[in-house]
Amino acid sequence: MSDGPGSEAFFDRLARRYERTFAPDARATEVDLRSLVTQLAAGATVLDVGCGTGRAWPVLLAAELRVIAMDASAEMLREAERRSSAERVVRLRADLYRPWPVADRSIDAIFALHAVLAHPPGDPRTAWAHVGREIRRVAHEGAILAIDFPAPSWAKRHLEPLGADRYLYRDEQGAEIVALVPEPADGLAALGLSLSLAPCATGVRASGRLPTAPSSRT
Ligand SMILES: C[S@@+](CC[C@H](N)C(=O)[O-])C[C@H]1O[C@@H](n2cnc3c(N)ncnc32)[C@H](O)[C@@H]1O
Repeated sequence: MSDGPGSEAFFDRLARRYERTFAPDARATEVDLRSLVTQLAAGATVLDVGCGTGRAWPVLLAAELRVIAMDASAEMLREAERRSSAERVVRLRADLYRPWPVADRSIDAIFALHAVLAHPPGDPRTAWAHVGREIRRVAHEGAILAIDFPAPSWAKRHLEPLGADRYLYRDEQGAEIVALVPEPADGLAALGLSLSLAPCATGVRASGRLPTAPSSRT
């Protein structure tokens, strides 16, 4: 990661004030996560990619899930250590655009919450293709993938580089938004995954399950 916005140094500087200034409302996050984790059985393993200060952990652990958390920022991980739940979480300092230090076929759900994927280095297609390959390597078939963005415009901006079919998405106020959901192109699309985009209390979430049969689009 470089030094600019979205870089490791950027998040290191932000870490101490992240929850006060940038993080979505804690209550809304909790409600959102509860609805997500009901799809998982106790004992399932969640990979919290770009875990930041570990905001998701209390809800995940309360649902008796095992949590592996990954972040490139040492300061974000240091803030996360303050949580009483931290010692029950496997914490990894790693860049998601490099090989993930996570075993093959070991993960039941991958969460990238609150615009974690919003800062791909270099060509977004190349960066996201790497993320797609790593997801496919570490996840079990049928694993859940959830990617949150603060607003539909962010989803559009950050899913667009994947090259995608256009889906019309109508927000709660009835406004039409063209959401770009990965289908036939590179990156996450190589997962054979059909993501659907829907509002959530903290913004908008693209989510779906990995196919249960091997994808033919590798
Ligand atoms: C906006 S915060 C979101 C944190 C957390 N998921 C949440 O919901 O509060 C983005 C996080 O992604 C991490 N991140 C950004 N780019 C990353 C990368 N290339 N590799 C690993 N972590 C990264 C940042 O360090 C930061 O902690």
